[in-house]
Parts: sequence; C-alpha cells; structure tokens
Amino acid sequence: MSEPKQAVVLVTGASSGLGNAVATFLAKKGMTVYGTSRDPAARTRRADEFFELVAMDAADGTSVERAVAGILEKEGRLDAVICNAGMGIAGPVEETPVEEAVRQLDVNFFGAVRVIRASLPALRRDGGRILVVGSMAGRTGIPFQAYYSASKYALEGLVESLRLELRPFPVQATLIEPGDFRTGFTSARRTLTAPGSPYESWAAAAIGQMEKDERAGASPILMARLALKLLGRKKLAVRYTVGMPIQRLFMVLKRFLPAALFELGFAAMYGLLGKPAEPVRARDRD
Ligand SMILES: NC(=O)c1ccc[n+]([C@@H]2O[C@H](COP(=O)([O-])OP(=O)(O)OC[C@H]3O[C@@H](n4cnc5c(N)ncnc54)[C@H](OP(=O)(O)O)[C@@H]3O)[C@@H](O)[C@H]2O)c1
Repeated sequence: MSEPKQAVVLVTGASSGLGNAVATFLAKKGMTVYGTSRDPAARTRRADEFFELVAMDAADGTSVERAVAGILEKEGRLDAVICNAGMGIAGPVEETPVEEAVRQLDVNFFGAVRVIRASLPALRRDGGRILVVGSMAGRTGIPFQAYYSASKYALEGLVESLRLELRPFPVQATLIEPGDFRTGFTSARRTLTAPGSPYESWAAAAIGQMEKDERAGASPILMARLALKLLGRKKLAVRYTVGMPIQRLFMVLKRFLPAALFELGFAAMYGLLGKPAEPVRARDRD
C-alpha cells in the first residue's frame, strides 16, 4: 500500500454514522477518499466533508462494479477499502419474513462480498488493505436481531477465510467489531414483530434496551481513529473491537466464561429472565 497519507480509500456507507466519520477523518488527514451512498444527492453535505460521495447500492452488483471502476479510472489505483455500509432489522426469528432476512444478508454480507470482489484485482496488484465493519453482534447473538447477528457472523467467517487466501499477496484484511455507537442506525432499523405476537413484551423489552444502549453509545470518532491507525499499521490482526470499554470487556468474557453463564448474563441484560407477559389479544383490545 502507498504511504497512508497519499492513499486512495473507498469507504462504503459514508453518508451517515460510522462511515461518514471515517471518511471525513481520513480525508482531513490528506487521503483521497471516496465515500458511497445509495443516493448522494439526498442530503446536504457538511463543509468539512472533504471527500467525494459516489453512488453505490451494496445490494446491486452492477452498481458496486461501476463505483469501483470509476475510482480506478480516475485515480489509477485503490489502496484501501472499508466495507461499512449496512443496516439492521429486528424481530423474532419465527415472525420475520424470510425475504426480509435475505435482504439483511444481501446488504450486510453480500454487499461486502461484492465490494471486496470488485476491488481485489487492484488491491492484489498494488497492495492494500480491506477493513470489514462487522459488529460485536457477530461474536455473540443478540436477541431479536438474529438475522443482523447472522449477517455479521457471516462476515467473520468470510474475513478469516479471505486472510488465508490472501497470504501470498500484499493485501491484508481485518474485521472491526464495533459495540454500540450513536449513529443513524437506530432510527433506520425496522422492527418486524407482529401485533399480538407471543414475543411482543420480550421483543419490546429487548429492542428497547438495545436502542437505549445505542443512543447512549460511543462517538463515531473512535471508529475513525481506529481506521486511521489500521491503515498505517504494518501487520493487521484478525479482528479489533471498538467502542465502550464495558462492551469490549464482554467480548473478552465471551471467550473465557462458560457459554451457559455468558448466555444467562446476556439474557438478564436484555430483560429476558422469567416469563414474558401475555400478549394483548385483539378481543381484549376491542
Ligand atoms: N451504530 C452501531 O451501534 C453499530 C454497531 C455495530 C456495527 N455497526 C455497523 O456499522 C456500519 C455502519 O452503520 P452506522 O451505525 O454508521 O449506521 P448509519 O448511520 O445508518 O449508516 C449506514 C450507512 O450505510 C449505508 N447503507 C445502508 N444500506 C445500504 C445499501 N443497501 N447499499 C449501500 N449503502 C447502504 C447508508 O447510506 P445510504 O442510506 O445513503 O445509502 C449509510 O451511509 C454498519 O455495517 C453497521 O452494521 C453499527
């Protein structure tokens, strides 16, 4: 990879949240940064966003290939790719329509796959970095976010495999696993619990807790600083956690505590001990 200061970097999902913080920060440090959004014209840019925002829908292969080809045509090279674009759905496994689950995987997992596949020929040729934004939800399943967790677990497997395949090439890939951050993610989340669902009270408690944690979460600048550090580091580890110290500690506990004990602690955290309250049946409401 070229000197980090002169690097050409692609950051997907840079119109908001973590991606926006990363793209803004790296551009301020002098890198040539291309961010992506499905609709770059949809929002007014801030004066300090010294990066170009190009159109890309991670769920559309042609759109991904076009965006990467456009950068290569303009810059002649690509030094780093930060696969960050993503979204989350919530709801019980049983009630979430399979089409919604497929869409979750299509954006979060296959979206990253499409970007990596389109970028690898250039990265292998010139050397480079791939930073994949996973989640702590990719290390421990979150209740009522099963398909989101599954999409992030899938990224863990992808990157572990990719690192081995890339050993002969001057390309390094790593996972960044954020805990809760204050971003647009919370308001963009769609909840798919059915009215009168037997899961209603538990799902509401767990999702409510999750939203509270996100709104009180860490500042995206932490993520931006980590991305800069990793682009300059000689050797990348398999994964890095980022976020509030207590959540990073959970990831350490997950490794060392007996699984049943960790699960009990997690259930307590999300208000899932005891029995769920009875759902409000339609005839009780009338
Ligand atoms: N916030 C957290 O607590 C948290 C925790 C762990 C992991 N993460 C991960 O961090 C990443 C960024 O999330 P965030 O918190 O910054 O959320 P955010 O503020 O909602 O930003 C999401 C970004 O992804 C883009 N995006 C969404 N769907 C897309 C699609 N189909 N194709 C291309 N881009 C798409 C959005 O761009 P447009 O809408 O403009 O296309 C936006 O720029 C995600 O992968 C998320 O899973 C977040």
